[in-house]
This record gives sequence, structure tokens and C-alpha cells, in this order.
Amino acid sequence: MKHFFDAYRLKTPLSGNLFKRAKKVMPGGISHNIHYFPPYPFFIKKTKGSKIWDADGNEYVDLWMGNYTHILGHRPQVIVRAIEQQLKEGIHWGSVYPKQVEWAELIQELVPSAEMVRFCCSGTEATMYAVRLARAFTGRKIILKIAGGWHGANPDLSLGIKMPYEREESLGLLPELQKYTKMIPFNDLSGTLQIIHRNKKDLAGIILEPIVGEGGFTPATKEYLQMLRSETKKLGALLIFDEVISCFRVALGGAQEMFKITPDLTTLGKITGGGMPVGALVGRKKILEKTSPEKKSEKWERILIGGGTFSAHPLAAAAGLAMLRYLKDHREEIYPLLESNGEKVRRGMNEALHQEGVNALATGIGSLFQTHFPFQKGGLLNAPHLIHRFTDLKRKEVEFRIRMLTKGIHVMHGGGCLTTAHSDEDIEKIIKATREVAGEMVQP
Ligand SMILES: Cc1ncc(COP(=O)(O)O)c(C=O)c1O
Repeated sequence: MKHFFDAYRLKTPLSGNLFKRAKKVMPGGISHNIHYFPPYPFFIKKTKGSKIWDADGNEYVDLWMGNYTHILGHRPQVIVRAIEQQLKEGIHWGSVYPKQVEWAELIQELVPSAEMVRFCCSGTEATMYAVRLARAFTGRKIILKIAGGWHGANPDLSLGIKMPYEREESLGLLPELQKYTKMIPFNDLSGTLQIIHRNKKDLAGIILEPIVGEGGFTPATKEYLQMLRSETKKLGALLIFDEVISCFRVALGGAQEMFKITPDLTTLGKITGGGMPVGALVGRKKILEKTSPEKKSEKWERILIGGGTFSAHPLAAAAGLAMLRYLKDHREEIYPLLESNGEKVRRGMNEALHQEGVNALATGIGSLFQTHFPFQKGGLLNAPHLIHRFTDLKRKEVEFRIRMLTKGIHVMHGGGCLTTAHSDEDIEKIIKATREVAGEMVQP
């Protein structure tokens, strides 16, 4: 029997050659580890709407959408026009300018916790600053994070990312990290409470994605978030939501608007910049103002939040402002559409997988979804560590991905995200491909 790589190799010879070249000049041939998958990634030539085309001219329905960045599809006119206009005014200035203020004001209006905004260049930077600010503001050291949570390559939070969690995430990290960053089990009220209380004297903050990306886009329960909110308040620690993926995607004001829980600090990225590189740390005025370089009294102490040659880059401001304005003006159509299409895809994929006899499950919320292989029936779906325990991610996920690619669908972690550019026809194609792939996967 042919290996499933064969059809992919046959379809993508130019990508295969490009990968050989890339490996000679970039370690592993990539610039972000997630860009690699075996036997080699296809190389993208151009994109439009819901589609991407590779170097060999193959067309795919894209579900990765630039790491969940595009919510209107690739290259929407509203963003292209904003960038073109900005190019006429300038590319990079290294100083303040009016559009930056408008962009921050709009974020302040849309995101419940955003009393003030500090821009940077990536989500990683935003979470790094969030942790530093939490420690500086409270004068304490310990940060609690969800077991399985990914907050970028930020060293402070590079712990407890991949199962089985006990291992170091990387060589080169200081062993002291374990002393000051600790894990809590997602959606486990009593387990988390115990850890909070064990660390309460030195607790600076708790950081989590209210909808955990690495856990199949599983939302936190309302009770869990309420408990975290009230405990942090009681102990004088900060609650930090990492909404790099979820803000402007699950609702205009993010998961915090959806769950009606306002954290002290929030990290933003992805959609915020309309497709341009961006990160932002937003939150309570009293806390953010501590990072101001303006020396207001003799008691002023420096909190170093915000270097970045390219922080609040004008092209990111132009694209981000255009994106957020568009989302605000069309929120009534966009979010219900994404919600119902997301539901349609999850239902259709699950029916196809189940009917073909593949032990897998598509999970998620709104426009976000992932598929887990194999899924053990009866397993709880409320915690990343439980999902991972039932998941043989590596082997089956790769097989699913490659087989979907040969049918013209680009998935990441067995899923991805929908955008307003995905048509009913695209959705039918995704479900049809899932059924065909599932059929192939169960063949002896
Ligand atoms: C939840 C979350 N936080 C932080 C980051 C890091 O953002 P960036 O890749 O822009 O550094 C990511 C990236 O995927 C993310 O998903």
C-alpha cells in the first residue's frame, strides 16, 4: 500500500526542492517551529479570501489563516486599502503619530479591561511584559499558569507547555524558573484553589487563555473564571487574560466580554494588527500608568515595559485600525455568522469521522476548532491535560493533515479557524474531505 506521503510529494515537487534549499540556510528550513511538518511544508506563493496557492500552483482552502490572524480572510480590500494609503504617508517612523492614538482609543472602547494600552510587536512580548508588570506592581514573584497553556516563547512562561509537563521545555532555561512559575489545572476548581493558597503570600498573578488554544479551544467554565477573579482580588494578585487568539475573534471584546469577567491585564496580538506584526498589553489604568517614563514624583520607579524598534509600527496601526473599525461596524453580521459556520463544521466533521469509524473528535468554540486523535469516549473535555492524554497528536494528526492537503484543505492541529471569506461551498468541501480522509484512515 502506498504511504500517504507519496500523493503529497507528487503534488508538491517544487515545495520539496525549496525545502531542501531552505534547510541549508535556516535550521530546519523554517522560522517558526510550527511551520514544519513531515515530510516537508508546502511553500506559499499567494493568498486571497479563503484560499492559498503553493509554489506548485495547488489551491487549498486555508484554515490556518496566518496563525488565526485573519478573520476576514486573506487580503481583504479594507486592509489592503489601509496599507496602501499608509505606504503613501510613510513606513516606519520610530516615534508617535496620530493613527496610533486612534488605534489605542478604539481598543480602549472595545475591550472591557483596556483602560490603557501599550503596543509592542508580538504576543510573546506582550505576555513577557504582563508577567514583569504583575511582579513589579505587586512586589511579589510567583506567577501561576495553566498546565498546557502556550503564551509564546516568553522564558518566564516556558514551563508546562507539552505533556507530560515534568520535562524542561527547552535547554537554556534557568532552573529557577520552576520556583517562580507554577502550573494550575485548567477548569479544576479545587485543584487550582489548593495551589493558589499554597502560594498566596508571594502570588503576583495568574495568567490564562480563557479559551485554551493548546486544549482544543476549550473555554473556561464561568465558575472557574469567577473563582480566579475573586481569589486574585482577595489576595492582591493580578488576573491576566491572554487573549492573543480570542480577542476580536470569539466576540468583539474578546472572551472577557463573552464571559463578563474583567481581568486586570490582557495581552493582545494577531487580529489586533489586521495581519501586520503586533502585540499589546492593556489593562487597568492604575497598573499600566506605572510603566510611564514620565517622572511624576520623587517616588517614581522605573518599570521597563516597552522597547521595540518597531513597536506600534505605522503599517500595523493602519491595518489594525481598519480591521477593528470594520469589525465594530459589522459586528452584528460577523460574529453570529462565524459562530454558526463553526458549529456547522464541527458537527459535519464529527459526523463524518464517527460514521467512517475514526476515533477522533473535533472540539472548539465559535470559529475556532481542532480535531483530536484518538479520542477516548467519556474523557472530560474541560482540560488541556486530559485532551492530550487521550491524544496521539503526532502520528494521526500528521496523517490527517497530509491527507487533507492532498484533497485541497489546509488544516493545523486537525482544524484551524473560519473567516467571513469561507463560503458554504468551502464548508461543504471541508466536510467532504474529512469524510474521504476518514475513510482512507480506517482502511487496513
Ligand atoms: C495564546 C497565545 N499567546 C501568545 C502567543 C504569542 O504570540 P506571538 O506569536 O505573536 O509572539 C500566541 C501565539 O500563537 C498565542 O497563541
